[in-house]
Amino acid sequence: MNIVALISGRGSNLHAIIKGIEEGKINAKISLVISNKKDAKGLDIAKSYGIEALFLNPKDYKDRKEYDKKLAEVISQKNPDLIVLAGYMRILSPEFIDAFEGKIVNIHPSLIPAFQGLHAQKQAIEFGSKFSGCTVHFVTKDLDNGPIIIQAVVPVLPEDTEETLSQRILKFEHKIYPQAIKWIADGRVSIKGRKVIVKDAKYGTIPVNPALEDF
Ligand code: GRF
Repeated sequence: MNIVALISGRGSNLHAIIKGIEEGKINAKISLVISNKKDAKGLDIAKSYGIEALFLNPKDYKDRKEYDKKLAEVISQKNPDLIVLAGYMRILSPEFIDAFEGKIVNIHPSLIPAFQGLHAQKQAIEFGSKFSGCTVHFVTKDLDNGPIIIQAVVPVLPEDTEETLSQRILKFEHKIYPQAIKWIADGRVSIKGRKVIVKDAKYGTIPVNPALEDF
């Protein structure tokens, strides 16, 4: 499976995916990493593995539509099977999503549909949720709300700050994103409307937080 990844920053999810490929767990190749930020650390991570890495500057384009047109052009040259958004902090234009629908995946640091948009971890703390987590989903025009492939649940603790909760969630991001991509590469993932089925996956553990004591 041929992957193009889009990033904006740190690139820790990209790194986890690259490691999964290097370790032979994910049967895929990343042919290009594109960032909309020049100083994105993820570009250096890609280069350190010999992966082509490109900064595409939004300031060189009139508007989002023009930028995404160029983005689509550059991506199409690689003819990818999957476009992986790994901390890509720009909303994609509807035209871009139409061109690649069903082939774009994203990771979001909450249990969607809760806490979409920016600062999902802070939103969960302020809301007083007892659980949050992360979600890998297909990207549709409905922003962080596309069909869900896998979610991980983590507890929110009374003393949590945005930082501590983000760290706890991030550990699971680095597990569920490579896992989802492996499933796609292995041809086990199908979408029916909003529902995604992973063939032969084990479904069904139920967490409760705080822990039950009497029942
Ligand atoms: C992650 O928390 C991801 O869920 C969100 O942006 C962050 C990216 O982190 N979409 P990184 O660049 O992968 O380290």
